[in-house]
Amino acid sequence: MKKIPISETINKIGQEVELFGWVDSKRDHKKIVFLDLRDRTGIVQVVGDEKFKEISTEDVVKIIGVVKERPEKLKNNKILTGGIEIEAREFEILNKTNPLPLPVNTDGYEIDEEVRLKYRYLDLRRPRMYKNLALRSKFIDLIRQYLFKKDFLEIETPILSETTPEGARDFIVPSRLQPGKFYALPQSPQQYKQLLMVGGVEKYFQIARCFRDEDPRADRAYGEFTQLDLEMSFVKREDVMALIESMVIDVYEKLKIPIKQKPFPVFTYQEAIKKFGADRFDLRTPEEKEKNIQAFAWVIDFPFFEKTEDDGWTFTHNPFSSPKPEFMEYLLNKRNIPNILTTQYDLVCNGYEVGGGSIRNHRPEGLKAVFEIMGLSENEIEQKFGHMIEALGYGAPPHGGMAPGLDRMLTCITGEKNLREVIPMPMTSGGRTAIMKAPSQIKEDKLKELGIRLR
Ligand code: AMO
Repeated sequence: MKKIPISETINKIGQEVELFGWVDSKRDHKKIVFLDLRDRTGIVQVVGDEKFKEISTEDVVKIIGVVKERPEKLKNNKILTGGIEIEAREFEILNKTNPLPLPVNTDGYEIDEEVRLKYRYLDLRRPRMYKNLALRSKFIDLIRQYLFKKDFLEIETPILSETTPEGARDFIVPSRLQPGKFYALPQSPQQYKQLLMVGGVEKYFQIARCFRDEDPRADRAYGEFTQLDLEMSFVKREDVMALIESMVIDVYEKLKIPIKQKPFPVFTYQEAIKKFGADRFDLRTPEEKEKNIQAFAWVIDFPFFEKTEDDGWTFTHNPFSSPKPEFMEYLLNKRNIPNILTTQYDLVCNGYEVGGGSIRNHRPEGLKAVFEIMGLSENEIEQKFGHMIEALGYGAPPHGGMAPGLDRMLTCITGEKNLREVIPMPMTSGGRTAIMKAPSQIKEDKLKELGIRLR
């Protein structure tokens, strides 16, 4: 006999089956005991005799039994297996459980999040959480299928690296071989993906982990999150936007997730501010919110620079962006700085910014001018970005790309209120890892090896 998943029991009426799973609940009617058996595919009712009394909820069990159709009046059409039950012939307890520190047969929203994250491995037993994990996996699968069909290469880039400015603080890692020196974890693969374009790759993507030390919010994971990072050569702004839009539509259609408007409406930054008072906004009516329809829109034509507190200039989105072609003159001559518009495009969905990208400065003088406007000295530019400026000087192709945030898109699709509901093992809001106790202290001899003394 072969083990089958619970969801397949409905096709086996009259047959003997072997099932494995957890006991979701137990109802003791003296001579007859009912169990609800749960695996990743569903729940089914199992009927046994007094021997079932030794089984407790959340024990791991093996059941051998016959699939029986339930009498009409006992059918429950709210669940897939509600028309049948398993008449147990044999069972085995594969692992007896200790009492669980939290219930796992509710949706879990009522439980303190710290407790849920401490016991994430139990929290994931909730059907809702499994559904979110399965959707995430399918979503990434469909993205890969789409991009491979379009001849993209999936390429990994370094995690131990140098700082890449995306506006957050870096996580740093001490070097043992070079005491007193540090790696930074990438806030995004921005620089490496551009270097891949210099390398002639032309079409790159990566399901990329990004590391940012910034205060968490409902739409912002602390520590790490995941982007679909993508870059292409010989493209204009509209080419990248069209590729992303057609990929999103393809993937959402395959997942049967309704999209409000196709093609996606496009707003300039000025229009968005005037109309919605913000550059991310929710285009859905209350009924569309109810139905969880996804309302995408593009925002373009952002100012490149904004004033800093000390009256200098900084970038609004991405220092590696190119201005719109008609503003290149201003950039190179550092004139009319507040009027320079960038090629940046943001993708908005249901009130979130779900992605951003731009065409890049592929000539060294353009990139250098951005850093000069930001007030970096010749020396600082060389120190921090000399490798990029040098690389662009060796025949870098025109290129651009984008990075949709996967966690935010999945939050929108599931209708979850918090990003952490779609991340398998997220950090707590206080910056502690789920389950394991990082950050943690390290032993004196380890510090010594790294040449570090704590103050
Ligand atoms: P940006 O910093 O705008 O651009 O990030 C792109 C997208 O990543 C998501 N995102 C986050 N999601 C969860 N938690 C966070 N803390 C978080 N921060 C960002 C958002 C955002 O739109 N290198 C550029 C992209 C490019 O130009 O190609 C970049 O990283 O959905």
